[in-house]
Amino acid sequence: KPEVARVKNLNRLQIGKYEIETWYFSPYPIEYAHLPILYLCEFCLLFFPSVMMLSRHRRKCSLLHPPGNEIYRYEEISFFEVDGSRQLPWCRNLCLLSKCFLDHKTLYYDVTPFLFYVMCLRDSFGCHILGYFSKEKESAVNYNVACILTLPQYQRGGYGKLLIEFSYELSKKEGKLGSPEKPLSDLGLLGYRSYWADTILELLMSLDDGAKISIDDIARRTSITHADVSTTCDILGLFKSYKGSSIIALNKSAVARYEKLRNKSKRHIKPEHLRWKPPV
Ligand code: COA
Ligand code: NA
Repeated sequence: KPEVARVKNLNRLQIGKYEIETWYFSPYPIEYAHLPILYLCEFCLLFFPSVMMLSRHRRKCSLLHPPGNEIYRYEEISFFEVDGSRQLPWCRNLCLLSKCFLDHKTLYYDVTPFLFYVMCLRDSFGCHILGYFSKEKESAVNYNVACILTLPQYQRGGYGKLLIEFSYELSKKEGKLGSPEKPLSDLGLLGYRSYWADTILELLMSLDDGAKISIDDIARRTSITHADVSTTCDILGLFKSYKGSSIIALNKSAVARYEKLRNKSKRHIKPEHLRWKPPV
């Protein structure tokens, strides 16, 4: 197989009302590679070389949300579960789109072993994709996320952590612990570190004064793996030695971080609005 120079090809994408800059190479068909702007249908994710061809398509395309089951709806956020083997072209188009923002050397062209959890912003027109994560139907390891992406126009708005929270809510329903597939990108690691810290601090703050908690307790209550709990507690400086053993205890800076978090009144996933059973 000949080596192909993997330089960034496309420059811009238009999707919905946004025009966005791409970050990395994505293997769109060669005849699209050198267009200044590629035009995407924001619902079926098909791509076109001109505005005119996109608008001709839009008159025929009836899709107004991702092609799967809506498994969560609260306020203006909805999640859809899309099966890679049932919605092959759509999932391939999603992978092409997300590769524009992922620096992995390999893209998984075979989407059939994955489920795609797609987060959307609902309005009177339709369900607009904000981001997604993919998840292997059967993971030999305890990965609960393969790829995760917030579309650039929505980044830094807390949606990445909402996607992560959703992935852990699924793990809780499965009665399993989970962790994202490695290696994580720098941005991915930032998002996870922040989510793990928030989640552990919220749990510790909810305990009665003087109550003891172990790494295993935290893992079971959050579905975060022991390794990730332990790394996070270490980073937050929560390990204290007490009478010859190591305990988990809040400290001033952790409490200050929690206070800051509480003042942000950030969005949360409401588990009672999740209508989902683990696939059998
Ligand atoms: N610089 C510094 N910090 C950043 C950042 C940036 N560019 N982008 C996000 N963060 C921090 C936020 O401040 C936040 O931490 P805080 O709540 O403690 O302040 C945390 O990361 C998560 O931010 P959030 O807004 O919830 O995430 P997001 O919607 O921007 O999405 C990713 C995060 C990783 C999903 C997004 O950056 C992305 O899609 N990246 C490209 C794809 C990728 O690398 N995926 C992961 C590997 S598979
Ligand atoms: Na959690």
